[in-house]
Amino acid sequence: MTEALSNKGTPAVRMVGIVKRFPGVVANAGIDLEVYAGEIHALLGENGAGKSTLMNILAGLYRPDEGEIYIHGHLVDIRSPRDAIELGIGMVHQHFMLVETLTVAENVILGLKEPRLVLDMDRVEQEIEELSRRYGLQVDPTAYIWQLSVGEQQRVEILKALYRGANILIMDEPTAVLTPQEAHELGRTLRRMAEEGKAIIFITHKLDEVAEFSDRVTVLRQGRVVATLPTEQTTREELARLMVGREVLFRLEKEPVEPGAVVLELRDVHALNDKGLPALRGVSLQIRAGEIVGIAGVAGNGQRELAEVVTGLRPVSSGRILVHGRDVTNCSPREVIQAGVSHIPGDRLGMGLVPNLPVSDNIILKDYRKAPLAQGPFLRKQAVIRFAQELIRRFRIDTPSPATPVRLLSGGNLQRCILAREITAGRGLLVAVHPTRGLDVGATEAVRRMLLEQRAQGAAILLISEDLEELLALSDRIVVLYEGQVMGTVSADEANIEAIGLMMAGSRVPAPEGV
Ligand SMILES: Nc1ncnc2c1ncn2[C@@H]1O[C@H](COP(=O)(O)OP(=O)(O)OP(=O)(O)O)[C@@H](O)[C@H]1O
Ligand SMILES: [Mg+2]
Repeated sequence: MTEALSNKGTPAVRMVGIVKRFPGVVANAGIDLEVYAGEIHALLGENGAGKSTLMNILAGLYRPDEGEIYIHGHLVDIRSPRDAIELGIGMVHQHFMLVETLTVAENVILGLKEPRLVLDMDRVEQEIEELSRRYGLQVDPTAYIWQLSVGEQQRVEILKALYRGANILIMDEPTAVLTPQEAHELGRTLRRMAEEGKAIIFITHKLDEVAEFSDRVTVLRQGRVVATLPTEQTTREELARLMVGREVLFRLEKEPVEPGAVVLELRDVHALNDKGLPALRGVSLQIRAGEIVGIAGVAGNGQRELAEVVTGLRPVSSGRILVHGRDVTNCSPREVIQAGVSHIPGDRLGMGLVPNLPVSDNIILKDYRKAPLAQGPFLRKQAVIRFAQELIRRFRIDTPSPATPVRLLSGGNLQRCILAREITAGRGLLVAVHPTRGLDVGATEAVRRMLLEQRAQGAAILLISEDLEELLALSDRIVVLYEGQVMGTVSADEANIEAIGLMMAGSRVPAPEGV
């Protein structure tokens, strides 16, 4: 890329003065962006800064209100995703767009101009295999989408773009849903594509990935470009400051809290996963008031099922679960909520929110039966609005109004809605699954601080995260899960990353005294 850039030449993508307004917001307020063939260009910015909007314009999903787009030097008018595809622009979205009941190969050819009958599926599958091999995107073309992990589904999205001949590839927060290993592999795949002369635009909130993957980085703030820099000439601190407009602390003060009574207790819990196979195999653990217990493990080792059994979303096949000493084993989610459990789910659009309801309703969903919001069976409209406004302010939810349907919010603001609801609902136990996934650095800092505040106020928190740094920063103890079993527990103060890594890979480390 350095070569491509030193010759400069014609950019593969040149966006000039792009403006996009939505009711109540200017998502893009005159953006200029140039991306060259052969480079990986990171696009960085706070939640709601306008990254997805800008890329959706390039991919033909939105029409800009103002501005021009040049592709390989030619002024173009991108009126639909089809126009974008014909110009060699492919996009992998923040929320995948695959058809679950079709196979990988069927999804790849879905929507192609050629009628499907003319296509020879064997040939298509072969071509997909060739592409997989060339870019290191391992996936079985005959598998059904519902059978695939999130990481594999993402590979399908990338293959779909490549199959259509994309030479400009946009990835909207591709690593938000990946394990660290998968993210690393994706980085290699993107590098290979760039070396072949493709232009890659890569949206992320993770500053380490900007450093690891990208050649240049453009930072957006409130719909404007604040800087475009060669990656090697900048630092994580500088990027964070550019993004948020202030210094961001990467270190959190974790005050000592004297743990209180046991809030959550699991006794020898067994449960099956969606495929009917054992996912939890005899998990026992306790969390006390004022304690954060982090669960570490490679994705797919029972973390999801653990969160689900505790929140009443998945039955246990044996064992007991107690909250505040009350047996909630196999209770319904509603009963579990009544027992005092809040939940920040990993899948925020799927189960966290009701997309068509306004922000206000979404952030009070769980509180609506309580005074002062409810008066008999009727909601007190004014009280609801006031409460919602207060939460919107406290959690800095970027929304035109409390009445905006939640589906129109940016990815990170969706997450803030859930957090606002669940953290304020705080009734003793909080189950937080990937609570900062998809959040910008400023919001990540804020959320982590809120979790520590909850802890200081005596909440018990079960924290599930794939981010070891996060687990270490927040947890009092870290429990490592491997194939549904507890491999060991370490206290976060003396946590030894190497020991945790070994346990994540399946070896048992004896717990030190007292934990
Ligand atoms: N279809 C839409 N209708 C109304 N407003 C929208 C729409 N799409 C985006 N917005 C608003 O435009 C602004 C920019 O949103 P965008 O999704 O581009 O942010 P982003 O930088 O991708 O954020 P994130 O990191 O949270 O994904 C936000 O205020 C968002 O609420
Ligand atoms: Mg986005």
